[in-house]
Formats: sequence, structure tokens, C-alpha cells
Amino acid sequence: MRFPEYRARRLRDHAVWREMTAETTLERRRLVQPLFVKEGLKGRKSIPSMPGQAQLGLKELVAEARRVRDAGVPAVLLFGIPLEKDETGSSASEVDGIVQQAVAALKAKVEGLAVIVDVCLCEYTSHGHCGLLSEVGGRRTVDNDPTLGRLAAMAVTCAKAGADMVAPSDMMDGRVAAIRESLDRAGLKHVPIMSYAAKYASSFYGPFRDAAESPPKFGDRRGYQMDLRNSDEALREVAADLEEGADIVMVKPALAYGDIIRRVKDAFRVPVAAYNVSGEYAMVEAAAAKGWIDREGVIREILTGLARAGADILVTYWATEVAQRLKA
Ligand code: PBG
Repeated sequence: MRFPEYRARRLRDHAVWREMTAETTLERRRLVQPLFVKEGLKGRKSIPSMPGQAQLGLKELVAEARRVRDAGVPAVLLFGIPLEKDETGSSASEVDGIVQQAVAALKAKVEGLAVIVDVCLCEYTSHGHCGLLSEVGGRRTVDNDPTLGRLAAMAVTCAKAGADMVAPSDMMDGRVAAIRESLDRAGLKHVPIMSYAAKYASSFYGPFRDAAESPPKFGDRRGYQMDLRNSDEALREVAADLEEGADIVMVKPALAYGDIIRRVKDAFRVPVAAYNVSGEYAMVEAAAAKGWIDREGVIREILTGLARAGADILVTYWATEVAQRLKA
């Protein structure tokens, strides 16, 4: 490839050839819209740090889900916010817990929309950690193994309520196996698991924790979520989750982790999801509100970049908006 025989601009400088040879396409079929459902809420309550996003009451959730579906987004990712929280996050696995009720309502009232449930305890525990606490080695910390049964119970109640997929985001070791085993035992062999396999301890989750009312009351999540300096470790996490039965593996956050998405895709050739998280959303919305960036252009560039990095599935708060634009 040498000038003047090779001229990169020959294809670039004519719109038809530019379009014809473009390598990456954003497609609606790959989008997932996260939604927050809050127990006891009438209507919707906007989330100040996530302009355009809101906590939704059950009725409003159904209305919003119809808008999502009508835009052509195939799936939502549900987060539940219960009224009551306790040490063990018991409301996470109740048959009539908020997220289970939400799943049932969506399956009954919104045809043609797949429902994925985020499986984690942090929205349900009074301390805000993603698992059960106990003294381990003289420190009060998240106790891995006793947490597994709680996560599996949540996954099973959600799947029984009609969830089409479960997505554990807690980062406990062994949770994919525990969930797979419990689902199978409950006759839910057909329900896939999308594991948050390479989920990093990140400052980009701040706005989400406002939305989900889930910040840890003490300490942080570095004892279970990954260290942002690591990349080989992501491959070990993904390998372990696949071996335990994960059907889709997720990398999260997305923007600063394109290298991880690419490494995971190249190493395993399995479906990979990228979670374009709350802080990434908030930064763009804040800069756009000030008129400092071309909002739509930046959104397209971010999502296309994630697809180019190797993400098959894009979980993004812009899913519905982008789908509407792609439809038009
Ligand atoms: C729950 C969970 C979190 C996110 C998704 N699932 C927050 C956390 O780990 O504290 C973050 C999503 C976002 O920031 O958009 N464990």
C-alpha cells in the first residue's frame, strides 16, 4: 500500500464509496435500554445527574417500555428500587418484590419486548453493598459464598416472573454457576445469563447510584469489582464465567475500556456486551447542555466506537433515542 498507487482518499472523498465500504454499523437489534422501577412511586421522578432518565412507577414503567419497543429497541435491562432495605437484601428475591412485579407487568402488557433483569443486591441491602456482610479475617466485608444463594434466589424469582434473561452484576466468584444451577433446577434451562464478567470498580457509576439509591454506606466496591489497572485479569474473569455457563459476557464501563472489549472478543469469540454507563452518559449530557459539544455526533461516535471495539450488544441510556434516529 504505497502512494501514489494507494490513495486512501479515493474511497473516502465520494459519499457512495465511503458508505459502501464503512466497516461498522449501529443497529437497533443490538441495543438495550436500562430502566429503573421504584416501588410505591406514582408517575416518574427524574434523576438530576442523568438528565432525560427517571425512576419509574410501575404504571409509568409499562408506558415507557412501550415507547422503547416502539422505537425498535429489542430489550430492556431492569433495575428495581425497593421501599424496604435490610442487611440481607431480602426483598431482592421476594416473589412479589418490585422487580419481579415489574417483569410480570412488562411481560403481560408489552408484547414484543425482551426483559433482562440486573441481578445484584446493592439496591436491596441497607448497607448498599452487592452481597452479604460478615467478619472475614477480622474485617467487615462482603462474604462471597453465602451471597451466592441470595443471588440465585433472585435470578430464579425473576425468571419465574417471566424474565427472558438475567444479568448478574455483583462480581462475586462463582455466581454464574450458582445461578445456572438454580435456574436449571427450577426448570428454567432456557433462560440465558449475561454476566457482568469484567466489571471494574469505577468512578463512572456515580449517577447510577443516585438513580438506583445504591451507594455503599461505608467503604467502596474494590473488594469485589475489578482493579482498573488490570487487563489480563479480565480474560480470567471472562474465562471463568464462560466455564460456569455465561452465554454473553459484559465489559463495564465502556468508554475507557475499549481495549478490554477488543481483547475479550479476540480471545473468546463469544457474544460481548458493553455497558455505556451512567457517568459516561452524564458527561455528554452536561457538556451538551452547555453547548460545548455536538450531542448527537458524540453519541453516535461513542456507540459506533464500542461496536468497532468488538461489542455485539450495547447497553446504553441513549438506546431509545438512537433507535428512533436509526428508524427515521
Ligand atoms: C449494580 C450495578 C451498578 C451498575 C449496574 N449494576 C452500580 C455499581 O456497581 O455500583 C452501574 C450502571 C451505571 O453506572 O450506569 N451493582
